[in-house]
Amino acid sequence: MSRVVYVNGEFLPEKEAKISIFDRGFLFADGVYEVSTILDGKLVENQAHLDRLGRSMKELDMAPPCSMQEIEEAQQELLKRNPTQEGGLYLQVTRGAADRDFLYPDPSTKSSLVMFTQARPVIEAPSAKRGLSVIFQPDIRWQRRDIKTVALLAASMAKEAARAAGADDAWMIEDGKVTEGTSNNAYIITKDDVIVTRALSNKILHGITRKAVLALAKEEGLRVEERDFTPQEAKEAKEAFLTSASTFVTAVVKIDGQELGDGKPGPLTTRLREIYIDFARKSLS
Ligand code: PDD
Repeated sequence: MSRVVYVNGEFLPEKEAKISIFDRGFLFADGVYEVSTILDGKLVENQAHLDRLGRSMKELDMAPPCSMQEIEEAQQELLKRNPTQEGGLYLQVTRGAADRDFLYPDPSTKSSLVMFTQARPVIEAPSAKRGLSVIFQPDIRWQRRDIKTVALLAASMAKEAARAAGADDAWMIEDGKVTEGTSNNAYIITKDDVIVTRALSNKILHGITRKAVLALAKEEGLRVEERDFTPQEAKEAKEAFLTSASTFVTAVVKIDGQELGDGKPGPLTTRLREIYIDFARKSLS
């Protein structure tokens, strides 16, 4: 690979980009991130991602590395240097490098900012056509899942468990209810065509795609209920899907070994995906 990546104000070949071993992102997972999707060489819903980045930093009293405008300019420069039509732009801010101490370092410590692009198909992603299978896993993550931190080991463990079970991903369970997917928000569609997804709280990430999809569904006249649902309800659902910046709306066709309907992406999910793609194209910047 010969990408140009961004690290603390510099654009460098990826092999030359370096971060200190004392960086608190490395030592304490003291960092936050965003993934904006690249479509037609531009960014999808990027302002919403930058707004959430600002909120994550604020919740953790983390000093921004620079202004939001400078971050956006760096994103655009990175896109220029890595021309790719479809993929993702990953952005991470950490509290910076300081001698190891649980307490936050002096506020004058400079935050670190890194960014890189990843090319991959978005519209024609193979998973979108065939749909995904998910298993259930206990949600062992911390209680501030609304903050998009880089502490993703629990999510990795759940994804590994899914892979070991021959599934694509896992939906996580807490107190007998589905919270969300390992890296996506989770939805079911009931026999009465009601879209059900967990309400916003500290228990889940407030997905940028979730917000748009729920608004678009309502505009379409579809019924939406923001409430908890059980694994059993999920297995008995008419359709199911997940949303994230990387997957947009993607059908879930098998849950805990049980196929939903005919095991193919259902009509409502397919429609929602199309509607979101139209919206995503309009949001490009
Ligand atoms: N994941 N829930 C979790 C736990 C997530 O990690 C994500 C995003 C989402 C969906 O949020 P959004 O629609 O804003 O992407 C929900 C990103 C894509 C990732 O970690 O790669």
